[in-house]
Amino acid sequence: MKKVMIPPIKCQGIKSKLVPFINRIVDWSFKGRWIEPFMGSGVVGFNIMPGNAIFADSNPHLINFYNAIAKGKIDGLKVRSFLEQNGEILSKFGKDYYYEVRERFNKTHDPLDFLFLNRCCFNGMIRFNRRGGFNVPFGPKPQRFSKAYITKIVNQVDYVQIISRHSNWSFICQDYKDTLKDITDDDFLYCDPPYVGRHVDHYDSWDEENEKYLFEILSKSPCRFILSTWHSNQYRKNVFLEALWSEFHVSTKEHFYHIGAKEENRKPILEAFVSNFTPKHLHEEPVERAEQLSLLEKLSDYYSELQN
Ligand SMILES: C[S@@+](CC[C@H](N)C(=O)[O-])C[C@H]1O[C@@H](n2cnc3c(N)ncnc32)[C@H](O)[C@@H]1O
Repeated sequence: MKKVMIPPIKCQGIKSKLVPFINRIVDWSFKGRWIEPFMGSGVVGFNIMPGNAIFADSNPHLINFYNAIAKGKIDGLKVRSFLEQNGEILSKFGKDYYYEVRERFNKTHDPLDFLFLNRCCFNGMIRFNRRGGFNVPFGPKPQRFSKAYITKIVNQVDYVQIISRHSNWSFICQDYKDTLKDITDDDFLYCDPPYVGRHVDHYDSWDEENEKYLFEILSKSPCRFILSTWHSNQYRKNVFLEALWSEFHVSTKEHFYHIGAKEENRKPILEAFVSNFTPKHLHEEPVERAEQLSLLEKLSDYYSELQN
C-alpha cells in the first residue's frame, strides 16, 4: 500500500497507523459493498478505496462534512479561502476567536466551522456535551494555519472529493443497529466501535450492552467482517475478547498512542482484529487492486493538472 492518506477530519481512535495492517487482513473476494458502521474520520475506507461503500456514523457533523465534500458544496478552493481568512483572524485574536467560532458552529452546524474547530481544538478531539454542543477547548499552537498546513488540508479535501465522486459511496448518519440491518453475503463489514467504558458523550458512547448486541449481530453475519478492538495494555486485558469473541480469529498488532504532546507519554497497546475468517495475506506485502489503481490514476491526473 502506498503512503496512507490522512483525512481532513481527525478523531480520537483514528486508525491511520493501522491502515496497512487492516488492508492485509481484508478478504478482497467480496463483490458487494464495503460497510463501515463507525466511520469516524473515514481513514480506513478512504485508503481501502472500495468501489461501493456505506460509510455511517452516529455523529451528524462527521456525516454532514463528508456529504458536503461528496456533493461538491465544499471543495479545496472554498476550504483554502475559509481557512486563510479564519486563520488570520485566529492569529490576531487567539482563543477568543476560537470560542466565537465554536459558538457559531453550535448554532449553525456549518461543516467549514467544524473543520476549523477540529484543526485548532485541543488534540484534534471531537466531543459534545449533553445538549449536543461541541465543547472541546482551544489547542494553542503558534502559526496554526500556516500556508503549508492549509495546503495539506486542501489536498486532503480534494482527495476525498475525487475518490468519492469516482466511487459509489454513501455517507449516512445513523446508529450502527440500523446500518447492520441490511447486510448481504456479498458485503464486507469493517466495525470500529468505541472501546467499552471510555469517554461517553452525546454522539459517542459504548457500553457492555452495545458490545453484546454487536456480537449477536456479527455472530450471525452473512458476510465477512473485521472488528477492531483492543487486546491488552501494560495493565489490563480486554475481557470481552475472551468472554464474547473467542470463537473468531484474532490477529494482533502493537500500536502506540499519545497522551498529551510529550514523547515519554507514548503508551503501547496491543490492538486486536477479530474476523470470521482466517486472513490469507497477513504476512505478504500488500498489492494494489485494480479498483485502487484506477482511483490512484485519477488522483495523479488531477494533481498533475493542478501543477500545469
Ligand atoms: C473509534 S471511532 C472510529 C474511528 C475510525 N475507524 C477512524 O479510524 O477514524 C468510533 C466511532 O463510532 C461512532 N459511534 C459511537 N456510537 C455509535 C453508534 N451507536 N452508532 C454508530 N456510530 C457510533 C463515533 O461517533 C465514532 O466516530
